[in-house]
Amino acid sequence: MDGPSGSGKSSTARGVADRLGLRYLDTGAQFRAMTVWMLRHGVDVHDVEAVAAHAAEPRIVSGTDPLEPTITLDGEDVAEEIRSADTTAAVSPVATVPAVRARLLELQRATIAAALAEGGIVVEGRDIGSVVWPDAEVKLYLTADPGARAARRAAENGSTSVRSTEEDLLRRDAIDSGRTTAPLVVPDGATHLDTTPWTLEEVVDRVVAIVESTRGAG
Ligand code: DC
Repeated sequence: MDGPSGSGKSSTARGVADRLGLRYLDTGAQFRAMTVWMLRHGVDVHDVEAVAAHAAEPRIVSGTDPLEPTITLDGEDVAEEIRSADTTAAVSPVATVPAVRARLLELQRATIAAALAEGGIVVEGRDIGSVVWPDAEVKLYLTADPGARAARRAAENGSTSVRSTEEDLLRRDAIDSGRTTAPLVVPDGATHLDTTPWTLEEVVDRVVAIVESTRGAG
């Protein structure tokens, strides 16, 4: 499940995994944990070589229960810190660094392979259907109007400024879509869902129906 921030990916992915008894992996949280490490160690996140030189050091572990996803960095729970404004501002440049992507790709593929042996997993990010797991049984690309995305994000963050949230989202989208390594794209074979007019429950229902019909056909 790929798409930009605020498209409803995280809530949808968790809801679908819960309904279908699958594991859940938030790859954005891994890029955020990598970013927390860089910030804590004083690495300039705009210095590609410096970030690349340290990309192998952080120990990042994702818990894949959709009802209680966890993320640890060097053994410490960083679930809150990965959502801080400083982390959010620094994550897009870190995610453009090929060595960072290669390191996290290894973790992501290992997690997916393990989960597939136990029934399956819903994975959310920007390059899942295009790069991380091109053979996914179902590929989805979620979007929503920028105004709707900003309103959702601002509500989640308890922030009142939808306009500045929208500006931040569009800035991050531009970096995520414009980078050379694994940019945000609609993957080949993906179903494109615009979630703007729908409630979360409606989106989850639609995705579950898509998964069930794909499995029924397979
Ligand atoms: O989904 P999110 O906002 O938590 O993602 C944080 C950042 O990580 C975002 O700028 C895009 C990047 N990211 C990525 O490049 N590839 C992924 N598979 C997931 C996230």
